[in-house]
Amino acid sequence: MSFLLDDRLTLAASMVRKGVRVADVGCDHAYLSIYLIKNKIAKQVVASDVRVGPLELAKRNIQSEGLCDKIETILSNGLDKFDPNSFDDLLICGMGGILICDILSRAHFLKDKDKRLILQPMTDVDLVREWLYQNGFEIINERAAKAAGHIYSVINAVYTGNLQPCDAISVHLGGLIKDPTIIEMEYIQKYLKTLKIRLDGKTKAQNIDEQEIDELKRLITLIEGELV
Ligand SMILES: C[S@@+](CC[C@H](N)C(=O)[O-])C[C@H]1O[C@@H](n2cnc3c(N)ncnc32)[C@H](O)[C@@H]1O
Repeated sequence: MSFLLDDRLTLAASMVRKGVRVADVGCDHAYLSIYLIKNKIAKQVVASDVRVGPLELAKRNIQSEGLCDKIETILSNGLDKFDPNSFDDLLICGMGGILICDILSRAHFLKDKDKRLILQPMTDVDLVREWLYQNGFEIINERAAKAAGHIYSVINAVYTGNLQPCDAISVHLGGLIKDPTIIEMEYIQKYLKTLKIRLDGKTKAQNIDEQEIDELKRLITLIEGELV
């Protein structure tokens, strides 16, 4: 059987360092874990999910690929059941940003300069970037990919221990503002459009929050300034 990854997961896989051990948290079907082993990117994977159903599916797929010796599966809420020394690169893809922050917050052993975090939030990407900056992580790479008509951002971060200043552009656009590709420009334009729609809603609301409106206007002006 061949498992084809979409561009979102292919981008995440491209950020994994060659020859490392990987934790694939929220593996679901384990397509990503299987791809990493079959393409000789990872030497070992621990694939986990919080639900029994997806983990059983993952086990079946791993077994049918003959990769049981390379991919271990564990039932775990986030990294709670992980041996901190069992992986080098952590993948969390396809979850909401708030859930990703919650998983990261509970795993203090991620504050390790030898580990890498590869995160692909479905929502609240700004909150994930902010969490990383406020907890001493540096975003070393961030790119965007399009899949099924949506554009997703994939963040690659490492712990440095330096608390990063959380300026608005770093929080809202992260690494996407550095040499943006056509897809990344599209992502930024869409983000700007969402902010403008939110501003429009706020200005028409019954209870006007002047401070929030001013902040949104300032952010829109800042992002537009980056695009000229
Ligand atoms: C939308 S799927 C994403 C699957 C795959 N990572 C991808 O990006 O295509 C999200 C998966 O995360 C799992 N999940 C949700 N919360 C989790 C948690 N706290 N810890 C581990 N897995 C979780 C779900 O059960 C589900 O299988």
